[in-house]
Amino acid sequence: MSVLIKGGRVITAADDYVGDVYAEDERITLIGESLDVQADRVIDAAGKYVFPGLVDPHTHLDMPFGGTVTIDDFESGHVSAAFGGTTTHVDFCIQPQGTSFGDALEQWHAKREGKAIIDNGFHMAVTDLRDGGSLEELASLPEQGVTSYKLFMAYKGALMVDDETLFRTMQVAADTGALVMVHAENGDAIDVLVKEALAAGHTEPKYHALTRPPETEGEATNRAIQLARVAGCNLYVVHVSCRESVEPIALAREKGWDVWGETCTQYLFVDCSYLERPDFEGAKYVYTPPPRAKENQEVLWGAVRGDVLSAISTDHCAFLWNGQKTLGRDDFSKIPNGGPGIENRLHMIHEFGVRAGRVSLNRMVELLATNPAKLFGLYPKKGTIAVGSDADLVVFDPERKVTLSAATHHSKVDYNLFEGTEVTGTPEVVLRRGEILMEGDELVAKPGSGRFVRRARFGEELTSRAAAVM
Ligand code: URP
Ligand code: ZN
Ligand code: ZN
Repeated sequence: MSVLIKGGRVITAADDYVGDVYAEDERITLIGESLDVQADRVIDAAGKYVFPGLVDPHTHLDMPFGGTVTIDDFESGHVSAAFGGTTTHVDFCIQPQGTSFGDALEQWHAKREGKAIIDNGFHMAVTDLRDGGSLEELASLPEQGVTSYKLFMAYKGALMVDDETLFRTMQVAADTGALVMVHAENGDAIDVLVKEALAAGHTEPKYHALTRPPETEGEATNRAIQLARVAGCNLYVVHVSCRESVEPIALAREKGWDVWGETCTQYLFVDCSYLERPDFEGAKYVYTPPPRAKENQEVLWGAVRGDVLSAISTDHCAFLWNGQKTLGRDDFSKIPNGGPGIENRLHMIHEFGVRAGRVSLNRMVELLATNPAKLFGLYPKKGTIAVGSDADLVVFDPERKVTLSAATHHSKVDYNLFEGTEVTGTPEVVLRRGEILMEGDELVAKPGSGRFVRRARFGEELTSRAAAVM
C-alpha cells in the first residue's frame, strides 16, 4: 500500500513548508516538491496542514479505579483518539497489589488484543514492591519496551505508594535508564482533609477541590524533584495543574536538572467554579488534581510556551456521569476521579493556543507529538514527519468549523468537558503507518490493527530497525 499526500503545508516541531509526503509499506520514504510518483491512494492536501500523528503520553483505558472501570476500552478509546488526530498513546498498566509486574503486563496486553486501532505502549504503575513486584523484575521491564515507571503519591488506601517505594523505584530507574513519572500530591494530608470535610457534613463535588489545595501538589512536586536528585534518575511530573507545582519544575529546569513536566488540556480551560454546577453536574469535573482557580490557566500557558512544561497530554480517564460519577452523589470522595479528553486535545490547543496567538503551530506539534515521542522513547519512529518515520499523519482542515459535543464525539462517555465549544480546524484524514484510520466523518480502521510499541530507553532513539530487533 502506498499513499501520496500532495501539496499540504507540512508542519513539524521544526519545519513549515508546502510539499508532498509519500509513504510505502508503513513508512515515509520520500518528501519533496511536486513528487513524480505513482501511489495506490493520492490525497489532495492543498490548503490543509499535514501534522505528524499526535502522541498522547497519559491515558487510562479499561482501567479499574474508584470502584468501577473506565468506560472507554482499547477500541472506543482508540476510535475517539483517531478522530482527534492521535495515532499513538502510552497507557498505564497498573500493577494490582500482590501481583508481579509480568502478570500485570499480561493483563494489560490482553485488554488491547483484537481491539487496538492506534499504536500504544505501556508505562508500569508501581503500587507494591513488597508482596508483588520485585526490584529485579522492575529492572527487567525496559528490556520488554516498558521504559517508564509511574508512581502515585496520592490516592491513599488505593494506588498511593510511600516514599520508600518511590525512592527505591527511582534508584532502579537510575540504573536502568527508565523515566520516573509521578502523580504529585501529598496523599496523607489530603486524606486528613477529606475525612474532616466529610465529618463536617460536606459532601458536594466542590469539596473535591477544597480538600486538595494546590500546596499539596506543590509540596509533592518538590519532594519528588529532590528525591530524584538523590537517586540520580530522570523525572517527569504528570498533570501539573497550578503555580505551586510549576514553580519547583521551573527552578529545577533552570538549574539544568533532569526534570520535565506536562499539563493536560482541561487545566487550561476548566476552573474550580465548574465543580459548583447544580444538580450534581459538578461531578463531571471531578478529576485529580482538581480544576484550579482560574488565574492558574495563564501560568500554565506561560509554562507550555516557555518550555517549563514540555507536553500537553489528556489524562483521558472517562467515567459515565450517569451511573459511574453518580456513585458519589452523597459523598464527593466516592465520585470516580477522572475526565475524558482524548478526542479534543488538538481541537482545543489549535483553537485557543495557535489561533489565539498563545503558541505557534510548530510549538503545538512539539507539545502534542514530538516531545512526548522523545521523552517516552518513540522518536523518530513517531512524533515527526521524516524519511524513515512511521507514516502516522494528520491531514488537518484549518477552515472547517466544528462544535465539540457528547452528541458527536466517539468516546462512550455521556458528556464532553468542552460541550458546545466551537472551534475552527479539525482532522480530515488520519493515517497510522500509512493506513487510513478515519476520513471525514467515517471510521475506516479495523479493530486489531493497532500495534504494541516497544519503546526505547530514555534518551535513546527508536528507529524502525531498533524496534524490529528489540
Ligand atoms: O482523576 C484522574 N486524573 N484520574 C486518573 C488517575 C490519575 O490520577 O491520573
Ligand atoms: Zn494522576
Ligand atoms: Zn492519569
